Parts: sequence; structure tokens; C-alpha cells
Amino acid sequence: MPERTLIILKPDAVHRHKIGQIIQRFEEKGLKLVAAKFMKIPESLARKHYAVHEGKPFFEGVVKYLSSSPVLIMVWQAEGVIQMARKLMGATFGYEAEPGTIRGDFGCSRGYNLIHGSDSPASAEYEINLYFKPEEIFDYPLADEPYLYGRND
Ligand code: RTP
Ligand code: MG
Repeated sequence: MPERTLIILKPDAVHRHKIGQIIQRFEEKGLKLVAAKFMKIPESLARKHYAVHEGKPFFEGVVKYLSSSPVLIMVWQAEGVIQMARKLMGATFGYEAEPGTIRGDFGCSRGYNLIHGSDSPASAEYEINLYFKPEEIFDYPLADEPYLYGRND
């Protein structure tokens, strides 16, 4: 199965009406949406999501941020999707992210950064399991898949 990544459009993306523009970038790239859910993440689940950052000075702040308001949670699939999504997202905070990236184009905050994306295959698996049951994830062939993912050799 091709690689999968967990993407969250965070509370500021929802409040700032950026959902459509951000999803458009993933679609334009040719990545495949295989699951989606709009929900308010309970604080206990946000703690599990950011467990790797427990004890760091920003931990309580990011838990509060992620669980403060509804978010759009998605799984995107393609070979190499984890790194492609991280490149589309840009550096952690908008004030230092490159123009052309989601964080670089849509924000300049040092705290609110619009989007989450898994940073490795292990964290993708951990994070996807936090939010989705296997039957909520759909693999299917895209009509243009031969051109999107094919090789010419
Ligand atoms: P994310 O996990 O949300 O996709 O972001 P990321 O990989 O780019 O950044 P990461 O290092 O995993 O940090 C997780 C979230 O914690 C907040 N943060 N604050 N004040 C700080 O130094 C600091 N560093 C990180 C951000 O909200 C970041 O998204
Ligand atoms: Mg991270």
C-alpha cells in the first residue's frame, strides 16, 4: 500500500476560511484523499497526539490550541506523501516559512500555524490510528492515476 500521512487543518485554518485553499494545494499536487473527519479534538486526545512533545515548554499551549475548536482531520495517500506534505506545509511557523508553502503564504504567527502533518512513517501510523478506524479509510483508484503515479520506463 502507498504511504499515508495524517493532516489536520487546525482551528485557525477553520476560523480563517482557509480550508478550501489548503485542500486545493493537496489536490493540485495529485495526492489522494482517503479519509476525512470534522471534529473537536478532546484535550485527552490532543495530549496523545502531541505525546512526543510532553515536557517541552510549549506542550500545554499546543494541546490547548489543537483542542480549542473543531478541526478537519484527513488522511492523504501517495508514495512519498509524508515528505511531499511537509514540503507543501513549509517550516513550523509562518514567519519563517518560505513563500509558496501553506504556512509561508497564509500566516505570519509564531504560535498559530494552520496545519499539522505527520513527520515520519511511524508517527503517521500512530496518528492515523488515533483518529480513524480502518473501515473509515478508503483506498480507491483515481481516474487519472496512471498519469499521476505511473512511470514511463
Ligand atoms: P506539527 O507537528 O503541528 O505538524 O508541526 P511541526 O512538525 O512543524 O512542529 P513540531 O516540532 O512537531 O511542533 C509541534 C507543534 O508545537 C508548536 N511548537 N511550538 N514555541 C515553540 O518553540 C514551538 N515549537 C513547536 C507548534 O504549534 C507546532 O506545530
Ligand atoms: Mg510535528
